[in-house]
Amino acid sequence: MSLFNVYPLFNITPIEGKDVYIFDKNGTKYLDLYGGHAVISIGHSHPKYVKNISEQVAKLGFYSNSIQNPLQEKLSNKLEEMSGCKDYELFLCNSGAEANENALKLASFHTNKSKVVAFKNGFHGRTSAAVATTDNPKIIAPINAQQEVEILELGDLKALEKSLSKNNVCAVIIEFIQGVGGLDESTAEFYEGIDQLCKKYNTCFIADEVQSGFGRTGDFFAFQKYKVTPDIISIAKGMGNGFPIGGILIHPSIKASFGLLGTTFGGNHLACAASLTVLEVIEKERLMENVKEISNYFSEKAKTIKALKVIKGRGLMLGLEFDFPIAELRKKLIYDHKIFTGSAKNSNLLRILPPLTIKKIHIDVFFDALQKEVSNNQ
Ligand SMILES: Cc1ncc(COP(=O)(O)O)c(C=O)c1O
Repeated sequence: MSLFNVYPLFNITPIEGKDVYIFDKNGTKYLDLYGGHAVISIGHSHPKYVKNISEQVAKLGFYSNSIQNPLQEKLSNKLEEMSGCKDYELFLCNSGAEANENALKLASFHTNKSKVVAFKNGFHGRTSAAVATTDNPKIIAPINAQQEVEILELGDLKALEKSLSKNNVCAVIIEFIQGVGGLDESTAEFYEGIDQLCKKYNTCFIADEVQSGFGRTGDFFAFQKYKVTPDIISIAKGMGNGFPIGGILIHPSIKASFGLLGTTFGGNHLACAASLTVLEVIEKERLMENVKEISNYFSEKAKTIKALKVIKGRGLMLGLEFDFPIAELRKKLIYDHKIFTGSAKNSNLLRILPPLTIKKIHIDVFFDALQKEVSNNQ
């Protein structure tokens, strides 16, 4: 049976990872500034992660959500402590799209309304409601297009109020820093305005922190730079360091009832062991402080690249925008310099999403390579 051909692939076969490096089948070493798409938070094969997952699978890998699972409680308590999101409740699932799907469904149950407002260039995943709120017609099938969604310009509070005042909107969903769309971020006035309007019109405010959460921006969540209280916060990616796990943090004003949400695999023992280890390592190794320090260092080094138009993003969720398409540059970085980077919907933007353990020496290696390639291009 051949594989359903939906992914354009680089001709590289990683078989091993160690911290910020991956190694292919020929033993070639690559610097990972892509983190497997913002997923690797505490570094590849972190020894504590390997130990805890191995020990857990040897004891009990999975049982359904019909029994007591103290690991889920341990994870939710640790998450509350580290995120500072006091009194929120946690529902666990398996991916970012699933987290947003549950967030939107819950908002609709809670408000008894069905329309969703999302923003231009936003990405929220590929499941039914989540993909309908994603600004990319190419990935929206007719079955998804039945959802009632309005896509607004980022920053347009007037249009938002016009939409919410019709009283049929269950949720406003937003990435505080856009990932796939190209690292755009609006103003405090805008985000705080959304918060106020959602409260005024009984609409749930959903912060999609799937990519920006778990310390990637230097704060636990990207929204924490602003005075906002989201009703639902969706998480995934860095949460499991590669182990599939997602979730939503739910404000106490939204009440649970049996059967409202549910999943077979969500919150299983192995996934909880993985995510708990991620939180413990972020804390013990002070990775959020490292994110801030390396991010500042990165921005300073970026100033030396003359061809660079603008540096976007926060923490270790960064984008370098050039005035030319970066596809060839990205290939050169991978094949000639053995450095993984990411791309975005904006074809001139190179994305940098490394493990949060990255050090200055790795940033130096990247800028040496970039300097060579962009000066070769001029
Ligand atoms: C902001 C954001 N939300 C949701 C998703 C979907 O997550 P997943 O691919 O785990 O379903 C992504 C994935 O890139 C994302 O960046």
